[in-house]
Amino acid sequence: MGEKLKVGIVGGTGMVGQRFVQLLDGHPWFTVTAIAASASSAGKTYEESVQGRWKLSTPIPDGVKNIVVQDAAKVSEVTSGVDFVFCAVDMKKEEIQALEEAYAKTGTPVISNNSAHRWTPDVPMVIPEVNPQHLEVIAAQRKRLGTETGFIAVKPNCSIQSYVPALHALLDFEPTTVVASTYQAISGAGKNFNDWPEMMDNVIPYIGGEEEKSEQEPLRIWGHVDNGQIVKASAPLITTQCIRVPVTDGHMAAVFVSFKNKPSKEEIIARWQQYQGRAQELNLPSAPKQFITYFEEENRPQTGLDRDIEQGMGVSTGRLREDSLYDYKFVGLSHNTLRGAAGGAVLIAELLKAEGYIQAK
Ligand SMILES: NC(=O)c1ccc[n+]([C@@H]2O[C@H](COP(=O)([O-])OP(=O)(O)OC[C@H]3O[C@@H](n4cnc5c(N)ncnc54)[C@H](OP(=O)(O)O)[C@@H]3O)[C@@H](O)[C@H]2O)c1
Repeated sequence: MGEKLKVGIVGGTGMVGQRFVQLLDGHPWFTVTAIAASASSAGKTYEESVQGRWKLSTPIPDGVKNIVVQDAAKVSEVTSGVDFVFCAVDMKKEEIQALEEAYAKTGTPVISNNSAHRWTPDVPMVIPEVNPQHLEVIAAQRKRLGTETGFIAVKPNCSIQSYVPALHALLDFEPTTVVASTYQAISGAGKNFNDWPEMMDNVIPYIGGEEEKSEQEPLRIWGHVDNGQIVKASAPLITTQCIRVPVTDGHMAAVFVSFKNKPSKEEIIARWQQYQGRAQELNLPSAPKQFITYFEEENRPQTGLDRDIEQGMGVSTGRLREDSLYDYKFVGLSHNTLRGAAGGAVLIAELLKAEGYIQAK
């Protein structure tokens, strides 16, 4: 594979940023050479800047402890030392859009966890197993941004990864109507139980903006590329309720679905078990070998037992049965900060490298 690509993490001190640092430790293709954050962290070593707010159970990797954190606003200083960046920052939407475009315009690919560019028509929003063909819009985006090598690619919201992969494997049967209720972990809000004690022994039936994302983003994922833009799909009709539950990590979805051509239960399970995407075909380092695992036990998948399946990159399903109003109902589960955030973004970067979109500068 030759020299590893040099990667920067913009927002590397935050919760998702820390996951990037953890996942990239020992990565076969990528090595972290720069970390950037707000001006208040700039100038400190990474170890100093995350002191008292390191949220992961594994220690800070030695390789990054002494990296001096840079000011993310000093774009050319950060990009001069890297081949591409991951971005996960807590800023206003317009500020993130401008920041990510500024990075891309230096010729630096940006793989983003942020939602700011998810609806920019020429920015691909990708689940590597589901819609790798959307990378094709990068050519149009590069033209707009006036760069031959830079671009922005984004990952979708964490909530949709607990039901979109399972439905995607069934698209041949033409799902018409989907109802999904999501039961979402507190890490999705960047929190643990120390930060958010009100979540203990509690359920909060509201997550700001989440239902709109959960209903609309799947349609963009299932959309097609037309004239340098992603055009969203018009089916299936999707309605959701998103609920915060007292678990650390792992988003579960309870799903009801009807189809134009109703499959048998055995056909659905076979489709799930056999589904392979581009990430598996290319044997990408972070790709789960088994993308969708179906549990026969009636009390699985469980968040605590099953969220870490395939290093948190696999998706689990279970409780598939016929329904009295819809054709079927089932449960899906995915790890929100691994598959749903940093892990999903690392997998996109691996796909981009394998497909020739990211190279050494
Ligand atoms: N948590 C999740 O599970 C999850 C999942 C998917 C997507 N996301 C998205 O990922 C992004 C980051 O989330 P998070 O939970 O990691 O947030 P977080 O823990 O609050 O971290 C925010 C990061 O942004 C940096 N930052 C804040 N203001 C900045 C500025 N003006 N300029 C440059 N950097 C600035 C912070 O740097 P300092 O340390 O210097 O303040 C920190 O590195 C958000 O857009 C969020 O919506 C989160």
